[in-house]
Amino acid sequence: MHVNFPGLHGRQSGSETRKIHQQWARVVVHLTFYGLIFLECALGIWMIGLLGKDLTIGIWHFPLSITPDLQLVYSNVLQWHAAVALSLAVLIGIHSLAALYHYYALHDQLLNNMNIFRRSHSVGNT
Ligand code: HEM
Repeated sequence: MHVNFPGLHGRQSGSETRKIHQQWARVVVHLTFYGLIFLECALGIWMIGLLGKDLTIGIWHFPLSITPDLQLVYSNVLQWHAAVALSLAVLIGIHSLAALYHYYALHDQLLNNMNIFRRSHSVGNT
């Protein structure tokens, strides 16, 4: 992904500045979402180990070398897992509303750019 760094290219026009802001927003949103999803899965797998279970994916069972500790799950880790789930739900809601705002109010290409099956992506009003 190409990212312009503000200040490195001299003065920018309004639309240039908006493009830079959108590129930064894209990086921050992706890092936040992928980071939270990774954290949620890590907490979930840790909980499975703490509950004394194997990690099961389809027909595969992976024993986890984690000492069972039910007390830690129900006094702590499960609450973090639920808090991360709630944060993700709230962020997904905000993200959806922002995408609709871009589509219906700003009339730009942002929503189309989220379509992973599209070949070309653009930023701004084009
Ligand atoms: C690899 C991925 C994940 C694993 C292994 C995992 C594992 C678990 C386990 C073992 C529990 C139940 C613990 C218990 O009550 O005995 C749980 C509960 C839960 N998980 Fe996950 N989880 C994963 C991903 C997610 C994701 C992505 C979300 C939502 C964004 C999520 C949301 C929840 C919620 C809401 C609960 C119930 C929390 C509560 O009872 O307060 N989990 N998960």
